[in-house]
Amino acid sequence: MAERLSHRQGPVGRHPGWPARLGPLRVGAGVLAVRKPKLSDAAAWSRIRRRDRRHLEAWEPTAPGDWDNNNAAFAWPGQWSTLRGLARRGMSLPFVITVDGDVAGQVTVGNVVRGSLCSAWIGYWVGTHAVGGGVATGAAALVVDHCFREAGLHRLEATVRPENAPSIRVLTKLGFREEGLFRRYLDVAGAWRDHLCYALTTEDVPSGLVARMVAEGRAEHL
Ligand code: ACO
Repeated sequence: MAERLSHRQGPVGRHPGWPARLGPLRVGAGVLAVRKPKLSDAAAWSRIRRRDRRHLEAWEPTAPGDWDNNNAAFAWPGQWSTLRGLARRGMSLPFVITVDGDVAGQVTVGNVVRGSLCSAWIGYWVGTHAVGGGVATGAAALVVDHCFREAGLHRLEATVRPENAPSIRVLTKLGFREEGLFRRYLDVAGAWRDHLCYALTTEDVPSGLVARMVAEGRAEHL
């Protein structure tokens, strides 16, 4: 029993599964990979997020302040440092998504709880220049497989607004099951919004999500 608990909690002073570089994988949009965020991502991150305000703002948690300031290159070092600190403490696995080597979005695993839960949430965004080509699905598949194997998690949850058809399609393609509706769950775009809860556990995907995407011809290992 002691051995089992220590496995679930991870070795003392180490956070299983972090840091990590996952991929490459060929999807419709190009060569997809995910890696840890870098301080030097500031300019690319800011350019995409400022350009894509209308694409992103309706689905993201409300942040105090102004969109352009919050997403300026000077705002990135603070965010990068917060993400790095959470990852080093084993509370998060934050990834930047790249397509053909260029920043295309982010996929983040947060609120990692170990012990008898071994659970976390997963969220993602992809810039308008890269949508519609399997990027979010491929990036999430890489990260889910990694979380269920190297990071030792058992369950991942994704919450999504019922109006967010593209994201619901991503979760459905991945095999996440809808488990319920959380009323007025999250402050998004200035109001408390209902969210559907989707979830996946290791038992659902014994061979992994990437293997299934490859078998279905939706991705190719490189
Ligand atoms: N209605 C239904 N399906 C749609 C629509 C629509 N209006 N628009 C696109 N789709 C489908 C696409 O056709 C595709 O499905 P298909 O492969 O069967 O054709 C699917 O949605 C999108 O799959 P991907 O190409 O893998 O995803 P993409 O790289 O385009 O990224 C994402 C999708 C992340 C939702 C992107 O649009 C985005 O960043 N949106 C803004 C931010 C956001 O909503 N983030 C998610 C918040 S919820 C969460 O994180 C759990």
